[in-house]
Amino acid sequence: MRRLGFLMTAALLATSLAACGKTETEGKESVEAVEVHETSDAEKAEILAGLPAPYNTADLVNGKRKFALCKSCHNVVPNGANMTGPNLYGVFGRKAGGVEGYKYSDAMAAAGFTWDTAQMDKWLANPKMMMPQSKMSYAGLDDPKDRTDLIAYLLIESGAKGQ
Ligand code: HEC
Repeated sequence: MRRLGFLMTAALLATSLAACGKTETEGKESVEAVEVHETSDAEKAEILAGLPAPYNTADLVNGKRKFALCKSCHNVVPNGANMTGPNLYGVFGRKAGGVEGYKYSDAMAAAGFTWDTAQMDKWLANPKMMMPQSKMSYAGLDDPKDRTDLIAYLLIESGAKGQ
């Protein structure tokens, strides 16, 4: 999983360096250089292809559609606000219950594991089964393919730190 993180960081770095290089050759101290680089669809496809199976062949359109089921309680943008549920940016590689300033259930706060794709798959299949005392009210996503697509979408949108 570390290799993936490296690849993704490398891919993102390469694209942001390219963006910085451009503004530098234009010779202006521009604000653009410090702006967060918006990952294009082509870059997302490239990152997707570098994910481990089965995520490398996931359907990101379906993944995004499934994330609509989460959106009433979560967002996945950098420094996004906690809502009913915590912000999910950077969730992979982070300890469960790890978003500062978010009030987790005692169960989640004490869980102690780190989110990876296997934990996420288990969680999304049936949160109450994995953690009966959690306060996330979501029944779960039955179809394994839907979970794969959603997890691939989350890996890409969340920056997949530590993966
Ligand atoms: C009705 C609101 C709601 C919906 C819908 C919901 N969640 Fe949650 N989620 C929560 C809450 C509340 C928590 C905090 C759980 C706790 O503290 O026990 C949480 C926690 C989580 C966590 C743990 C985060 C951490 O920092 O450890 C993940 C991952 C997660 N949700 C993913 C999802 C995904 C993906 C979906 C969509 C399939 C989803 N959730 C749908 C409310 C929701």
